[in-house]
Amino acid sequence: KNIVILISGGGSNMAAIVQASRARQWPARFGAKVAAVFSNKATAQGLVWAAGEGIPTGVVDHRQFAQREAFDAALMAQIDVHSPALVVLAGFMRILTPGFVQHYQNRLINIHPSLLPAFTGLNTHQRAIDMGCRFAGATVHRVTSELDHGAILDQAVVPVLPGDTAEALAGRVLTQEHIIYPRAVERLLAAMP
Ligand code: GRF
Repeated sequence: KNIVILISGGGSNMAAIVQASRARQWPARFGAKVAAVFSNKATAQGLVWAAGEGIPTGVVDHRQFAQREAFDAALMAQIDVHSPALVVLAGFMRILTPGFVQHYQNRLINIHPSLLPAFTGLNTHQRAIDMGCRFAGATVHRVTSELDHGAILDQAVVPVLPGDTAEALAGRVLTQEHIIYPRAVERLLAAMP
């Protein structure tokens, strides 16, 4: 069972999943491994980390495609080389077309840095602070064609502290992401035939 991970930046969630696959022995227990990491940005630092770990990496630069559908088709072609059992969006900052979502129906998941259904979209931490939220968090969910609205697979909650900046809250949430995302992936692997 191949896991393909899509990133756009630092890839800390991708790294947490790779490290969990080793520490939790996913290959031996589930016949699963992280087969490849792809990014829409050649500058994504996570690509350097993944390559350093011996994981195949690839870049599909969205700027080279006039339409969203063409970008998605090119990305799908690279992903499907690995016949993935699971496609994991991890800090992947692209909105995917319905065709992409349909193609990976039921094997496409994402992590969003808020307690969905609250704060879909961007700048979730500043918005939570601005609203006076006492709690914030992260959500692992299935990806559907409606942004940030798929079935929830797991969540973690953190306190919003007086004087919190968006950066401080983001760091507190990210720590929890690194716990719940690998856990959610393992739960899905365990449930696969
Ligand atoms: C972070 O804001 C995280 O909350 C969200 O994507 C961003 C980058 O994550 N999931 P990563 O370090 O690239 O995994």
